[in-house]
Amino acid sequence: MNISGNTIFIPGATSGIGLALALALQAKGNEVIVGGRRAELLEQIAAEHPGIHTVAIDTTDPESIERAATTVIAEHPDLDVLITMAGIMRAEDWTTPEGFLASAEQTVTTNLLGSIRLIAAFIEHLRSRPAATIVTVSSGLAFTPLRITPSYNATKAAIHMLSESLRLQLAGTSVTVTELEPPSVATDLMPGQRESAFAMPLDEFIAEVVGLIEADPDAKEIQVERVKFLRYAEARGDYDQTVATLNQLDPHGA
Ligand SMILES: NC(=O)c1ccc[n+]([C@@H]2O[C@H](COP(=O)([O-])OP(=O)(O)OC[C@H]3O[C@@H](n4cnc5c(N)ncnc54)[C@H](OP(=O)(O)O)[C@@H]3O)[C@@H](O)[C@H]2O)c1
Repeated sequence: MNISGNTIFIPGATSGIGLALALALQAKGNEVIVGGRRAELLEQIAAEHPGIHTVAIDTTDPESIERAATTVIAEHPDLDVLITMAGIMRAEDWTTPEGFLASAEQTVTTNLLGSIRLIAAFIEHLRSRPAATIVTVSSGLAFTPLRITPSYNATKAAIHMLSESLRLQLAGTSVTVTELEPPSVATDLMPGQRESAFAMPLDEFIAEVVGLIEADPDAKEIQVERVKFLRYAEARGDYDQTVATLNQLDPHGA
């Protein structure tokens, strides 16, 4: 995607990476629609940032996705970028079902099924545009696992492979697929993560991401320098060491 001139819907932009990216993309000359469940934040964002549009959406609810998609496409027929940002990350204990099952179901429904349903709701509209982009959001943990978050890691690995596969399917159409792969970034994704010494400051992350899109609008993967440690561990041949280092050093990962 080009850095400016798009109309972009970001479900999962009431806080954190989504909101910061929404504001940065608006500043670069894009129309941006922010989505999420927290109505009070949607109202606050619309009030504090003139020009930003908002829509209520719960990506675990197929009807809510359909409703939001109908509204967004009707109000913004130029929509040409979908960023499937909505995600949750939970610590789990897989030694008993009580320790993980409910969390795993919620995580799969939000992170994986939510992204799939969003793509289903927008693919025909995006294909009708002369050029369009689906930006998926995986994680460094798609490539190197954090011990305490098995379901999260698994959904992000699935998002990576979905992105790779979708890119092959959509080759020859007007729709390209770009995978954003954040490292640990200081947000409220998990308790304590905003304060974590290992998390990349949000403004630095967003600035690097914007620079990468500007430098290579056709990039398949958006990788800031900090994520390469996790992204390329297996290719480098130091996977076991990287897994050990990550799990000793970073209680929050991301
Ligand atoms: N921070 C990191 O270290 C990191 C690293 C790698 C990847 N990521 C990914 O980046 C994305 C954003 O995370 P973040 O760090 O910015 O955390 P965050 O501040 O908690 O943001 C998560 C966003 O997702 C939305 N969301 C969650 N469940 C939703 C649902 N059912 N329906 C609609 N929206 C929903 C939230 O909005 P509402 O609560 O208002 O619905 C919020 O806007 C996630 O996909 C995450 O996995 C983050």
